[in-house]
Amino acid sequence: MQQTFLAIKPDGVQRGLTGKIISRLEEKGFKLIGMKLMKVTNELAERHYGEHKDKPFFKGLVSFITSGPIVAMVWEGKNVISSLRKIMGKTNPLDAELGTVRGDFAVDIGKNVVHGSDGEESAKREIALFFKEEELIKWEQDIQKWIYE
Ligand code: RTP
Ligand code: MG
Repeated sequence: MQQTFLAIKPDGVQRGLTGKIISRLEEKGFKLIGMKLMKVTNELAERHYGEHKDKPFFKGLVSFITSGPIVAMVWEGKNVISSLRKIMGKTNPLDAELGTVRGDFAVDIGKNVVHGSDGEESAKREIALFFKEEELIKWEQDIQKWIYE
């Protein structure tokens, strides 16, 4: 089974959207295997967003993601990486379809509520960046037989 890193950004936490977003992923059928409310340090933010370090929005992005608590999570399931990206919607909420998190809850690109890994490599990297091995919980999701064929 695939794993991915998902974070509710400071705007999502401040706006009280945490429960709603988690509900969507639970209802889809995915399994939550790690979760914590945390404050992102500058160092962690710069490593996490390293791929964007030469972009004009990098400074603002680091300052935004460190501006308040985030909810960091690891989700597991079949094709969970691309599936969560679809549930999140396009980066710019203007392009995000209604029914997606960003399409339903966000207006501006810099306040787009959620982060999700964009591929297998970034998922591995980001999970290791935010979670220790022992913080990932191994458990049987009993409803799986009703979700997977
Ligand atoms: P994320 O990493 O947050 O899941 O978003 P993403 O993959 O859909 O988008 P990415 O290209 O990785 O950009 C990371 C975050 O940077 C902000 N951004 N601002 N002003 C801009 O042109 C711009 N472009 C990107 C967004 O908040 C985006 O989520
Ligand atoms: Mg990204």
